Amino acid sequence: RNIVFVSSEAAPWSKTGGLGDVVGSLPGALAARGHRVMVVVPRYAEYEDTHDTGVTVELLGHSEVGYFHRRHKGVDWVFVDHVSYKRPNLYADELGPYGDNQFRFTLLCLAACEAPLHLPLPPAEGGEPTLYGEDITFLANDWHGSLVPVYLAAKYRPHGVYTNARSVLAIHNPHQRQGSYAEEGRSVNHLKAGIATADRLLTVSPGYSTEITTYLGGWGLEGLLGARQPVLSGIVNGIDEDEWDPSTDVHLARNYSLADFKAGKAANKAALQKELGLPVDPDVPLLCFIGRLDFQKGADLVLQVAPWLMSQGVQLICLGTGTPDLESGLRWLESSFPEQARGWVGFNVAMSHKMTAAADVLLMPSRFEPCGLNQLYAMRYGAVPVAHKTGGLRDTVIDFDPFAQPPVGTGWTFSNFEAGGLMHAIGTALTTLKKHPGDFEGIQRRGMARDSSWNGAAREYEQVFDWMHMDPPYCR
Ligand code: GLC
Repeated sequence: RNIVFVSSEAAPWSKTGGLGDVVGSLPGALAARGHRVMVVVPRYAEYEDTHDTGVTVELLGHSEVGYFHRRHKGVDWVFVDHVSYKRPNLYADELGPYGDNQFRFTLLCLAACEAPLHLPLPPAEGGEPTLYGEDITFLANDWHGSLVPVYLAAKYRPHGVYTNARSVLAIHNPHQRQGSYAEEGRSVNHLKAGIATADRLLTVSPGYSTEITTYLGGWGLEGLLGARQPVLSGIVNGIDEDEWDPSTDVHLARNYSLADFKAGKAANKAALQKELGLPVDPDVPLLCFIGRLDFQKGADLVLQVAPWLMSQGVQLICLGTGTPDLESGLRWLESSFPEQARGWVGFNVAMSHKMTAAADVLLMPSRFEPCGLNQLYAMRYGAVPVAHKTGGLRDTVIDFDPFAQPPVGTGWTFSNFEAGGLMHAIGTALTTLKKHPGDFEGIQRRGMARDSSWNGAAREYEQVFDWMHMDPPYCR
């Protein structure tokens, strides 16, 4: 297939969250399976190793965009060039979201629709550059890509262009932004428009695809999503297995794998305790929290249970940035419990890797979680997740069952989002760690052996594409 991703971010060039990671790695997995894959993202900065294709198109009557290109991991990374993308941040400054975001991402969608028709690119086999052409599977991500299905239906198909193309809208962040604005009684919602017109809808886990159709989880879009439930499904994200591999991770004090993970984790724990000035003690359970300090990730619940947690004689390290109240909460934690706790306010890639390697338990009490990546990283590193049973966490963290034969489970979840629920789950984890170390080790081993590769997810995407292309376009 010819697959065109449309996204507002793609790692390593641009990234503010999990979306950037996903769009940075899924395309490569699809290319490795034999597809011709293009990713269209804004050219926010002058990226090295990209070249100007010289192709320009005029869009929306007066806006000329250019295309820069780089071939990497078998994928055509296409950067759309326009002055409105050249800003210090992707979406917002201190004053809030840029006022012209609707324009910027409308332009992106149109540029992505035009790219396969106008941009000759060298085929994987080598030889003369060719166009991707009209037979395209578009994979639009979040509200920023949501006008792709709209334009296919309203602009291209009526002119006999892209009649064989189909579009999938993948929803990662319906809560953060929907690309909506209201003006004098009229309102526009890009995400809603995409949901109403795409041929298929995907969320980043099956659990979340159900939650999003309920009034608690739908962010106002549950009605429309419920109506489109027959074409709505979920696929759990994979992880970048090169970046997150304890046997090669350059940030770690010592690399390890399933064969020697106990010694490996002990070395990393000691190194981190030392680095952060905590008592170096192999026996004290080390719990970590890594995540944005916002309503979604539930850091407030961690702070709420922190005094009790300290009384259990553990060490707790929290890392993240976000709202001022939670940032000062982290500082409160550290200054109140200097012998046991650290609250690192900041975004620090190296530290997040070190913590994942050192931790016995990773706390992930998200209020809601479309997929979640940290629990997947944690399992691969032998840190046991304790998570709220929601969205992708529900699908990926399997509760330990001490009675099952053979034993099953990769962590613990709690159903009610409240301090008691989290305390109970942590309590069970600590008891297992201290009193039943063999069970705990089994949980770690099963987590480390879990397949979180993109290859499995890519196969599921293919299946969605295949079925979609058998149906006529949803909007004609
Ligand atoms: C968003 C979601 C997160 C998901 C990520 C990638 O950041 O909040 O749960 O893992 O997108 O799909």
